[in-house]
Amino acid sequence: MGHLPTGVAVVAGREPGTGHPAGLVVGTLQSLSLDPPLVSFSVATTSRSWPKIRRAGYFSASVLADGQNDVCRALSSRRDDKFAAVDWHESADGTPQIAGAHAWIDCKTVQELAGGDHFIVIAEVRRLEAGGGEPMVVHRGRLGGYRALRF
Ligand SMILES: Cc1cc2nc3c(=O)[nH]c(=O)nc-3n(C[C@H](O)[C@H](O)[C@H](O)COP(=O)(O)O)c2cc1C
Repeated sequence: MGHLPTGVAVVAGREPGTGHPAGLVVGTLQSLSLDPPLVSFSVATTSRSWPKIRRAGYFSASVLADGQNDVCRALSSRRDDKFAAVDWHESADGTPQIAGAHAWIDCKTVQELAGGDHFIVIAEVRRLEAGGGEPMVVHRGRLGGYRALRF
């Protein structure tokens, strides 16, 4: 599946109780339905961040821009302080939006399905906002902009 180029997004919410940001990088975010507006993504059952985001119920998906490799590296690590060197701001729902991203999608989780060693998360789109730059693309494990890939 590495041959299928995809965009890269950070799914992030605020941990109930502490309010700490929790998030991870996903390459599986996609449009699911237009009416109602829904998106979906897959998250590993072993994810440490997803249970925190799940409890919050709300999250923002920040579509990373080409060049945000440091953000991608930080948010795809399993460290506890992933957000220490990452700039973010709050959406109207209070969920973390990554600064400088290509687009932001504010969501509310509506359903979670079992899918092998992943959960398929279905979420309602509450708000969409476009940023600037070019999107980050991942292809065969390499991060780049879609112009650089020349497909
Ligand atoms: C480009 C890229 C795409 C990824 N896509 C996914 C994905 O769709 N679902 C997933 O569960 N993990 C995905 N990962 C891996 C998670 O970001 C990584 O396992 C993360 O450390 C999980 O952190 P957590 O345990 O705090 O949730 C991806 C990583 C990268 C670099």
